[in-house]
Amino acid sequence: MRTREEWNAWYAKVNPWGTAGSIDDEVRVEALVRRLRHAKFRLGLDLGCGEGRLTHVLAQFCDRIIGYDISDTAVQRARVQFPHIEFGTGDLLEVVKRPEILASPFDFVASAETLYYFQTDAEREEAVSGLARLGLPGCLFFVSVIVNSTSRYRRYFSHDEIVALLSRHFVVIDAFACLAQDTFGLRAARALCPTRESRRRLTAAWTALTAPQDCKHAGYFALKRSQVASDAH
Ligand SMILES: C[S@@+](CC[C@H](N)C(=O)[O-])C[C@H]1O[C@@H](n2cnc3c(N)ncnc32)[C@H](O)[C@@H]1O
Repeated sequence: MRTREEWNAWYAKVNPWGTAGSIDDEVRVEALVRRLRHAKFRLGLDLGCGEGRLTHVLAQFCDRIIGYDISDTAVQRARVQFPHIEFGTGDLLEVVKRPEILASPFDFVASAETLYYFQTDAEREEAVSGLARLGLPGCLFFVSVIVNSTSRYRRYFSHDEIVALLSRHFVVIDAFACLAQDTFGLRAARALCPTRESRRRLTAAWTALTAPQDCKHAGYFALKRSQVASDAH
């Protein structure tokens, strides 16, 4: 899926991945929330916000946050569910070039589970270099992607690939597992858990023990390279 029409068709049904309310999604989000728990941002931006659930979670760390998605169907749904949050539509590659976005004093920019929908090296580079033009000098960037998975329809990153791509424009200051791979070992251990809560805790603990290069969903915090360079002088 790449175009607005394809994404709108995908969002014809609510919660199209079926992940909302799942243990895996709770663990993925909690891995990020745990790291941000002391953060307080003034203005956040969430690119590829989908139906707005993660934007809503991130809103607790921001005085104000704006979410954008290529799908107007998803954005309409986000607006209904989270009326206190601003949402806009647009392709990330185009949104990051809008004058009002470039001029906004973002101190937090997130793009979760979105970059691997850009299939070519050229678009991936355009997306990441576009992100790096956003925000205040000290802006914190968060990117998460699937590593260690394959799909006929998608081109995922490996951990090394996403770090190399981000590092052309950012200094990656942290990499962590958001969700462990669904291995036989994890499935077997989960089968022994008597309750949903114990399965959730086990998945979170297993994830916390997993290196980013070995997990399924990996998260990265980064600072713009120019900022790191100018701070040093
Ligand atoms: C897997 S969902 C992730 C949603 C949310 N960020 C999260 O982590 O829960 C990927 C989202 O990226 C959006 N997306 C894909 N390509 C995009 C693009 N070029 N510009 C903006 N959004 C895009 C899709 O519409 C979809 O809502």
